[in-house]
Amino acid sequence: MGPPGSGKGTRAKIIGRMYGIPVIAAGDMLREAAARGTEKGKVARAYMNRGELVPDDIVISIMEKRLNKPDTERGFVLDGFPRSVRQAVALDRILEKQNATIDTLLYVTAKPEIIVGRLSLRRSCPKCGAVYHLKDMPPREEGVCDECGSRLIQREDDKEEIIPHRFEVYERQTFPILERYQDAGKIKEISGDLEMDQIPVALEEILGKP
Ligand code: AP5
Repeated sequence: MGPPGSGKGTRAKIIGRMYGIPVIAAGDMLREAAARGTEKGKVARAYMNRGELVPDDIVISIMEKRLNKPDTERGFVLDGFPRSVRQAVALDRILEKQNATIDTLLYVTAKPEIIVGRLSLRRSCPKCGAVYHLKDMPPREEGVCDECGSRLIQREDDKEEIIPHRFEVYERQTFPILERYQDAGKIKEISGDLEMDQIPVALEEILGKP
């Protein structure tokens, strides 16, 4: 968990690679549904483009289906879910059925001025979800995804006029759920300001050897 652009997705992908477990990113799944033009995807796109949370029912049904796939048996990283109290309650219910629990909530902290710079310079691959930063993590060829060769885009919600609203939504709807995990002693903080090569070391300190 962490504010928009703090580096959740970047850390989630590193954890997935280090520990050999799937990364389940709510935002990526919603963008995929939108790109496929499914009914849920069409609704989701409108909310996402405005920087608002997609309705709980849509998100919960997509995440529940994904979490029930067999590749989650050895563990998984959740990125961007839960993001509301209702989603947190739904996650508890889904995990209870699987006899599973959340081990750690990684809370990514970052200064707002760094975040705004990151989001406005982020470019994303609409096909495979790879993420770049025009200055700090540029693709090898300008405007082209290293992974799959697709044209990179700027996400609608990364436009400067939408970013402040995403912060408000985070503060109002997502931040309050930290309390649930705080009480259970599951929260570990990781800085969003680390250099890329420092991230695996910091993660190993927090999560243990892969
Ligand atoms: P989502 O896709 O989850 O976006 P977000 O939470 O706003 O987070 P971001 O993806 O913007 O940033 P991040 O923290 O992952 O940072 P990243 O690693 O990319 O959600 C988008 C929308 O979908 C929501 O607004 C909502 O509408 C909907 N949605 C999603 N989940 C939902 C849910 N559960 N319920 C309802 N609606 C939901 O890093 C940012 C940039 O910084 C990148 O360019 C990266 O390359 C760069 N960077 C990161 N770390 C470093 C570093 N150490 N050094 C240099 N550059 C770095």
